[in-house]
Amino acid sequence: GEWAYSETLKEHFMNPKNIMQGEDTDAFDGVGMEGNLQCGDQMMVVIKVDGGKQVITDCQWKTYGCASAIASTSILSEMVKGMTLEQAFNVSPKDVAKELGGLPDNKIHCSVLGDKALRAAINNYYVRNGMEDKVMEEKAKIVCQCMSITDHDIEEAVLEGART
Ligand code: FES
Repeated sequence: GEWAYSETLKEHFMNPKNIMQGEDTDAFDGVGMEGNLQCGDQMMVVIKVDGGKQVITDCQWKTYGCASAIASTSILSEMVKGMTLEQAFNVSPKDVAKELGGLPDNKIHCSVLGDKALRAAINNYYVRNGMEDKVMEEKAKIVCQCMSITDHDIEEAVLEGART
């Protein structure tokens, strides 16, 4: 059938941006972990914050998630650099999907993974800095339609595409 993945998505899967090297979370100002119950995949997002401006100066991540999770979080990590914590908290999976040039419906939950881990990292920053009052609740519960098939099919197909 039709190839449902944009060039941007493929580019971010093949060359993900801002992947965290090593394990040293102490070098960061906020750490967020998130798991996806549906597929069992995990994500860690770490941020550096300019405390005066409350602006994200760096955002890195690592995951055992699928191709869509990798591409989504890669582009998310680029998007939020330079945003205030509040702006970054409000970036939605829809914004990410749009920036990626679209994401199939059954893969939206994969973009939610990085998104949620980012919000956890932001809240972690607030807690660490005595700003518990700023900790923000998740607004929406996401309904997951995933796991019909194909994460490995997708990765295979992307890798296949890159070889040719
Ligand atoms: Fe688990 Fe995409 S993140 S299938």
